Amino acid sequence: MEVESVMVTGANRGIGLEFVKQLVKLPKPPRIVFATYRNESSVQDLKDIQEKCKETQIILIQIDISKMSDIESAKNIVDEKVGEKGLNLLINNAGVSKDLGFPEITEENMLFHFTTNTVGPVMVLKVMLPLLQKSAAQKTSGMNVSRAAVINISSLMGSITELTDAHPKDDILGYRTSKVT
Ligand SMILES: NC(=O)c1ccc[n+]([C@@H]2O[C@H](COP(=O)([O-])OP(=O)(O)OC[C@H]3O[C@@H](n4cnc5c(N)ncnc54)[C@H](OP(=O)(O)O)[C@@H]3O)[C@@H](O)[C@H]2O)c1
Repeated sequence: MEVESVMVTGANRGIGLEFVKQLVKLPKPPRIVFATYRNESSVQDLKDIQEKCKETQIILIQIDISKMSDIESAKNIVDEKVGEKGLNLLINNAGVSKDLGFPEITEENMLFHFTTNTVGPVMVLKVMLPLLQKSAAQKTSGMNVSRAAVINISSLMGSITELTDAHPKDDILGYRTSKVT
């Protein structure tokens, strides 16, 4: 696997931060990782990686994925940096979860989850698509991440086929429906 550039949303903590840590440890690490965050106060871990990292340039980008203007600004930053090479890999990781089951569920809770977990990743992909297509066009053989790829992080909790009795079907309804795959 050769990945030139990667964008990870929600990279300042949790699984997104771990993606960044693992990407820079690859035998052939990406040349550039675009790591997104929302609040300036939450980027210390990313800055620590940025300082230590010799082979990979970590570029921090502030985005709220529920705001189209933020996504468009991020695209301009990525585009300027990757140029004709385009963007190899988008990891749509940013997500939210607030427990509320049925029938307590509210419109606000449903929309909260859908805005970030469902609509946000689609909008990020829509805006980044030309950059991913640019990267895919560089190589002509097969379908693989060396050309371009998108990873959307779903959840077992959103799986229809994998639902088990261990998880009651009426808990965290907003999260589960926003992650259905
Ligand atoms: N943890 C699990 O067990 C698990 C299991 C299956 C799937 N997942 C999925 O994996 C992904 C990461 O989960 P996690 O456990 O690492 O979550 P987490 O620790 O709560 O981190 C979520 C990340 O998403 C960011 N984020 C939330 N809303 C955003 C928005 N509107 N715009 C931009 N960034 C936003 C957060 O930024 P702030 O720091 O600013 O809030 C944070 O960086 C999620 O999509 C989640 O659904 C998690």
